[in-house]
Amino acid sequence: MAYLSDSRKRLTIHDLLKMKREGRKIVMITAYDALFASLVDAAGVDMVLVGDSVAPVLAGEETTIPATVEQMIYHGKIVRRGLTHPVLVVDLPFLSYQVSIPDAIANAGRILKKTGATAVKLEGGSRWAPTVAALVGAGIPVMGHLGFTPQSVHQLGGFKIQGKQADAAAQLVDDAIAIEQAGAFSMVLELMPRPVAAAVTKAVSIPTIGIGAGPDCDGQVLVLHDMLGLNEGFTPKFLKRYAELGQAAREAIGRFAAEVRDGHYPGPEHTHG
Ligand code: KIV
Repeated sequence: MAYLSDSRKRLTIHDLLKMKREGRKIVMITAYDALFASLVDAAGVDMVLVGDSVAPVLAGEETTIPATVEQMIYHGKIVRRGLTHPVLVVDLPFLSYQVSIPDAIANAGRILKKTGATAVKLEGGSRWAPTVAALVGAGIPVMGHLGFTPQSVHQLGGFKIQGKQADAAAQLVDDAIAIEQAGAFSMVLELMPRPVAAAVTKAVSIPTIGIGAGPDCDGQVLVLHDMLGLNEGFTPKFLKRYAELGQAAREAIGRFAAEVRDGHYPGPEHTHG
């Protein structure tokens, strides 16, 4: 049980609220497996998200829509094994909370029970406030997600910045307040103009975690495989690549192939007796 014996304190959602109050930025990143989870844990992030982005990023799907509860449980469980310190959040996938409130509680509850996560995340504004309230009432911490909500990509007409018009921006602020009042402990703000994210962040007392929403959010999240340069085809303006692991992997595999073919691998130092 490395998770219990680790000397660092395991963060709670209350620590995240305190970080907002004290003006300390919150760092969140995605992970989908134990190996990368242990790396992000060692790097000292505050929150880890098992995003339904696992469907496009790892499974080669076009959108997050095909992700299932079973897949989220599988990835949540293996990520948990790699973590000692950060708050673990698992996405509620498409149609796991939209059909009915009892369904949402059953699915979110299963995810929490089977993965050991601290919280679930769901997409959408005021329309989903009763669902957030019911989950929180059942003892399930909820993170909201406003702005570009990938599960509604078809309805939104693609990967587009949200809240550009004044009425849409005002709606985002109202949505954020509704989600906070329903009991959410934080929310992701995805793809919106900086002033809109700043207004939302000011309007709520729970932390906002931005992705493509500018620097005024209480924290930032990136998809791990995007920021490591592993998902090379995805190049939105907001994304900063902190490494080029895709290129490094291609070059390493190419060297291995060449050395097998020309007989340099395995050499004497890699050969028994
Ligand atoms: O699924 C995901 O990875 C997300 C992040 C983009 C916030 O929701």
